[in-house]
Amino acid sequence: MSARPTSNGRSGTATSAVHAGCPEPRPGSPVVQPIVRSSTFHWAGPGDGPDLLYSRYGNNPNQLSVAAKVAALEGTEAGLALASGMAAISMTILSATGPGDHVVASRHLYGATHALLSGELPRRGITTTFVEPSDPEAWEAALAPRTRVVLIEMPTNPTLRVFDIEPARRAARSAGALLAADMTFATPVNIRAAEHGVDAVVHSATKYLGGHSDLIAGVVAGSHELIAGVTGMMKLYGGSLDPGAAWLLERGMRTLPARMDRHNRTAHALARWFTEVEGIRAVIYPGLASHPDHERATRMLSGYGGMVSIVLDGGGEAADRFCSRLRLAVPAPSLGGVETLVSQPRHTSHVDLGTGERDALGIPDGFVRISVGLEDLEDLKADFAAAARAVSALG
Ligand SMILES: Cc1ncc(COP(=O)(O)O)c(C=O)c1O
Repeated sequence: MSARPTSNGRSGTATSAVHAGCPEPRPGSPVVQPIVRSSTFHWAGPGDGPDLLYSRYGNNPNQLSVAAKVAALEGTEAGLALASGMAAISMTILSATGPGDHVVASRHLYGATHALLSGELPRRGITTTFVEPSDPEAWEAALAPRTRVVLIEMPTNPTLRVFDIEPARRAARSAGALLAADMTFATPVNIRAAEHGVDAVVHSATKYLGGHSDLIAGVVAGSHELIAGVTGMMKLYGGSLDPGAAWLLERGMRTLPARMDRHNRTAHALARWFTEVEGIRAVIYPGLASHPDHERATRMLSGYGGMVSIVLDGGGEAADRFCSRLRLAVPAPSLGGVETLVSQPRHTSHVDLGTGERDALGIPDGFVRISVGLEDLEDLKADFAAAARAVSALG
C-alpha cells in the first residue's frame, strides 16, 4: 500500500495522525482507506510481487494503514496491528523468547499481562522475575543469563506511577534483551517511548488509540526486524486484526492528538478540583505536585494523561455509593474513550488480590479510577460533586 509523504515519521504528531497510512493521492482515488473486506488477494506467484497477501498475515490494506500510522506516531521503522492489546503483548514476548528463557518485568503491570507472565508462560518454559521499578538497581540485579525481554508499563494502572525508563533500558542493553513497554496509558502523544530507547512499544489500542470504546485491538511499533518477528508469531497464533476493526481504529487514531490534548487538560483540571472536594482523602494524578513522580512526569511527558484516581473516605462502601450515584460518568471497566468511565480496581483489575495486597500496592478500598472523557469540565464536576455529596450524606 502506498502512503502519503507525511507517513515518514518526520511530520508533526497531529499531521501524522491525520495523513500517515492514508492512500496515495491520485485523481479519483479515495481520500481515506476504504474497508477492504477480502480475506485473500490475487497472487499467482513471486512474479506478482514479493508478498502473498492474506488478512491473517497482517497485510490487508486496513491493517497496513494502522501499521503505517502507528509507526509514524511512534517514530519507529514499522508497526503492526493485532487483534487485542493482549495479542500485542503476548506475540511480542513470544517472538523474543523460547523454553529456558527469562523475562524481567515491572511488578506494576496490567493484570492479564501479570497473569501471562506468572501463570501461562512458565508452562512453556519461560520464567519471569518481577522487580520494583522505582528501585533503579532492581533491573540489573534481576537479570539472568537467558534474559531476553525487559518489560515496563507506564503510567501504571491504577496508581499512575511514572517510572524512569533508563535503568530498564540499561539492564536490557547489558543483557542483549528486548526492551518492551506497554504505553497504553501514555499514548505516543504524551511520550514517544522509542526516543527513550524502548525497542517494542506496545499499546492496547482498545483504549486511547481507538478512543471510542467500540473496538478491541492492539499495536506494536519498533524496527523492521522486531515487527517481522512479531508478525511471524501473529501468523502462527492467528491474532491479526479484523479489517473492519482496523478501519475503525485507523479512523480513531486520526483524532488521537486532538483528543489527548483535551483528555490531558480536562483530567488535570478535574484532579485539581477533586483536591478540594469533601470526602475525598487522596487524589492521584501525575500532574499534581503531591504525586510521587510529579517531577519525573513533568520531565518525561508532554501531557499528564487522561486518568485520575481518587480515594474516598469511607472505603469500599463509600466508593460503591459514589459510583452508583453518577449520572454522567459511566461505571465500566476500560478507559481511553470519549465518555468518562469509572471503575473500582477491587471489583475489576485487582479483584483477585486480598485487601492487604491491594493496600500494599497503594490501592485501598475506596479507590476509584476515572478515565476522564471529552465532556464539558463543568458537567463532570457537577456529576462528581453530586455523587460525593450523596456519600457525605451517608455519614
Ligand atoms: C495497560 C493495559 N495493557 C493491556 C491491556 C489489554 O488490552 P486488551 O483488552 O485490548 O487486550 C489493557 C486493558 O485494559 C491495559 O489497560
